[in-house]
Amino acid sequence: MVAGRRVLIGVSGGIAAYKVCEVVSALAKAGAEVRVLLTEGAQQFVTPLTFATLSRHAAYTDEDFWQPVHGRPLHIELGEWAELMLIAPMTANTLAKLAYGLADNLLTNTVLASTCPILLAPAMNTDMWLQPPVQQNWTQILADPRMHGVGPGEGVLACDRTGAGRMAEPAEMLSYIESLFHTQGDRDLAGKHILISTGGTREFLDPVRFIGNPSTGKMGIALVLAARHRGAAVTLVHGPMEAERLQILRDVRLVPTVSAEDMHHAMKDELPKADWIVMAAAVADVKPAEVHAAKLPKAALPKELPLADVPDIVAELSRDKLSHQMLVGFAAQTGDIVTPALEKLHRKHLDAIAANPIDQPDGGFGSDRNQAILLDRTGRQVAVALGSKLEMAHQLYDFVKEMGAGD
Ligand code: C5P
Repeated sequence: MVAGRRVLIGVSGGIAAYKVCEVVSALAKAGAEVRVLLTEGAQQFVTPLTFATLSRHAAYTDEDFWQPVHGRPLHIELGEWAELMLIAPMTANTLAKLAYGLADNLLTNTVLASTCPILLAPAMNTDMWLQPPVQQNWTQILADPRMHGVGPGEGVLACDRTGAGRMAEPAEMLSYIESLFHTQGDRDLAGKHILISTGGTREFLDPVRFIGNPSTGKMGIALVLAARHRGAAVTLVHGPMEAERLQILRDVRLVPTVSAEDMHHAMKDELPKADWIVMAAAVADVKPAEVHAAKLPKAALPKELPLADVPDIVAELSRDKLSHQMLVGFAAQTGDIVTPALEKLHRKHLDAIAANPIDQPDGGFGSDRNQAILLDRTGRQVAVALGSKLEMAHQLYDFVKEMGAGD
């Protein structure tokens, strides 16, 4: 989504500047055109040469301010050039200047000379972040619709404190940037509550053995991020997942579950609040008929395992859902993906389904990429080409939105 796009990165003076090198590098490798400008303070931490090398283009400082480009002031050229700006790390000082429209250096002048969406990634000591004027400036700047905030999170800070003020991680900034290129900064899902399920369920035979599947929950994480970046409120019901994978999520209600039965209860409880329900979880179809409280010795393991059905969660939800609620399923398939997905769409009374092939290289379980055919009850079919799971999530939301969903 970022290939060929123009990203301008403003770096102000905080130690987190070193992490922005990774963002610049990742964007350049993904084919984006990247320009970097540094404040005086930023240069105390990272040199213009570092960013120039990573972005494959000279980096700018206040010394360049009076050097016209194509006969025009640099800040005007850069401001008009940018399709998107990232300000990271954003210090308390730069935040205050931006909140009040001050322009005393190249970075702040360029912001005022631009009209594109801007992603702001504050980073500072916890006490600085929590000061009332800083909080006030943060609220004030985010009232401007083109401004988007990412982080700060909580964690260990360079001043040895643990608390709020830690800059968002590069992966979080990169996913937000990808989203902003899709949406142009439009928060079109604001006011919607999206209930998402993800991950695989585990059906235990005894405390150490279970029936499961290779689902990692990555598609669900992408669905959450895309929804949040578009302004929706999100609840995520998830199967067992690596805790690290969930760390990228902020302001999301998380409901952990283990078995299909747990997930069924959680989804039923959460259903009334949701406008859209996206069932991306890989739910086990069956469970061991008998569950043992103690670990079975190897010799006592049954040679044939009697199985019982688990609830078909999405089919149950379709019975209880209200007419304004949109229910979207996933169908992970091998071979012909459309025929079985259409059959599931109708049998489970879904409003839409994403049929995704899991037998293609570079896609499906565990991958960061996916492809699908989106189908709805009216017979509409939209192919989503192989791309990031985040891009697929956006296209799925576009598809559901076009159904006039919940409006
Ligand atoms: O497993 P299957 O291909 O039938 O899954 C299709 C859709 O049904 C998916 O959205 C999946 O999350 C959902 N499902 C469910 N409960 C099950 C099995 C599948 O909600 N027991």
